[in-house]
Amino acid sequence: MLIFGFLSNKNMEYFLVVLAALAAVEALDNGLARTPPMGWLDWERFRCNTDCTNDPENCISEKLFMAMADRMVADGYRDVGYEYVNIDDCWLAKERDDKGRLVADPVRFPNGILGLAKYVHSKGLKLGIYEDFGTKTCGGFPGSEFYLQLDAQTFADWQVDLLKFDGCYSDPRDMQYGYPIMGKFLNMTGRPILYSCSWPAYITNYTAIRQACNMWRNYGDVQDSWDSILSIVEFYGQDKGNFSEAAGPGGWNDPDMLIVGDFGLSIEQQKAQMAMWCIMASPLFMSNDLRKMPQESKAILQNIHAIKINQDPLGIQGKQVFGIGNLLVWTRPIMPKGTTAFVVLNKGTGGTPTKLDLNVDLLGQNPSGYNITEVFDQTSLGIFKPSEKITISVNPTGVIFAVGTPV
Ligand code: GLA
Repeated sequence: MLIFGFLSNKNMEYFLVVLAALAAVEALDNGLARTPPMGWLDWERFRCNTDCTNDPENCISEKLFMAMADRMVADGYRDVGYEYVNIDDCWLAKERDDKGRLVADPVRFPNGILGLAKYVHSKGLKLGIYEDFGTKTCGGFPGSEFYLQLDAQTFADWQVDLLKFDGCYSDPRDMQYGYPIMGKFLNMTGRPILYSCSWPAYITNYTAIRQACNMWRNYGDVQDSWDSILSIVEFYGQDKGNFSEAAGPGGWNDPDMLIVGDFGLSIEQQKAQMAMWCIMASPLFMSNDLRKMPQESKAILQNIHAIKINQDPLGIQGKQVFGIGNLLVWTRPIMPKGTTAFVVLNKGTGGTPTKLDLNVDLLGQNPSGYNITEVFDQTSLGIFKPSEKITISVNPTGVIFAVGTPV
C-alpha cells in the first residue's frame, strides 16, 4: 500500500499493531504479578555456559532447569512462594527452523522447551524464557526482531509462563513501540505470560513502561559482590524521577537477581540484600545453585516474615528516607493500615557495629506509638511512644530489618 510506503517492514509491523491496540485498555492488564514475582533465574550464577561435554552439571541445559525445579519443590522454596523457573540467555540453537521459528539447542534441550515446560508444570511451578528485542540476544543467539508475533506465539505454544525480553542489538529508539507491541502479541496468544522488560535499562519513560510490562530492569546487571548490591541500593535510594512510584500491583521495578547463597556475600550481606529487595518491593528471582545451598542462605531466602513484607498486597515500593554517615534508612508502608516496615543499612566496613537513635515518628503519627519487631527472627525491639528514640545497632555491611505496628 502506497500510504505505508515510508515504513520499513519492522515499522509496518509496529504500526499495524498500534492501530489494533488503540481500542484496547491503556494499562497492562494481564492479571499477573499482583505482587512481586518470585522464582529462580540462571543468569547470574550459570551465565552462558554451553559446554555440556566438559561441564554437564552446570551447562545451560534442560537438565539444569529440571534439577532446579526439583530442588525448589523438595527444599521448600515453592512452598514459600518461589514459583517461576526461568531460562536466561544461551538456550537457543544458532538458527531458526525453515518456517522461521525459534529452536532450542537440540543437544542441550532434547525434549524442547515444551518438554521442559511440562516437567516444570508437573512440579507445580511455572517456566520462564529469555529473548531479545533486537536482531541477536546479548549472548549472540537469534533475536526476535522481525519475528515478534511468531515468537510470542511460539512461546505460548511451548506453554511458557514468563518472557524476559532483553534489548541488545536493537535501536533503543524503537523500544517505545516495540516493547509494548511484544506485550500485545503475548496477550493476543491468550496465554497469561508474565512480561519482564529490559526497556528502561535503555530509556526511562516509566509511565509507558508500566502500561506495557509486569516488571522492568532499570539498572546494570547484578554481580556476585557487595559493591554491586550497594550500587543498586544507592541507585534505588536516589530514585531519580521518582521511579519508585511506578511500582504497584501488576508492575514492578526490577533491581535484578538475588545472589544469596553464591560466593560473593557474607551472611550479613546476604541478609542485607534480602531485606533491601523486600523493602524495595522487588521481584525475588534467586540466581544460585539450589543443589549446593548453605543452610543459612536457604533460611534467609525462605524467611516467611521477610517474604510477607516483599509480597505485601499494597505493593508500595519503599523509599530511602535519609542517610546519615554510613547509614541508610528506608521505610515502606505495608498492611494492615498504619504499619511501616523499615531497614537501616550500614555501608560502613569499620569492624564494629554502628549505633543510631531513630525517632519513632519516622514510622508515622500513631498517638499510642508503635510496637517494633525485628523481621528475620521476630525478636521484639519494644514499644515506643511518639517521639521516643529506638537505639539501633547495625553490623558492618549489614542491616536491621524491622516492622513498626501501631499500638
Ligand atoms: C543482559 C541482561 C542480563 C542477562 C544477559 C544475558 O546483560 O541484563 O540479565 O540476561 O544479558 O546475555
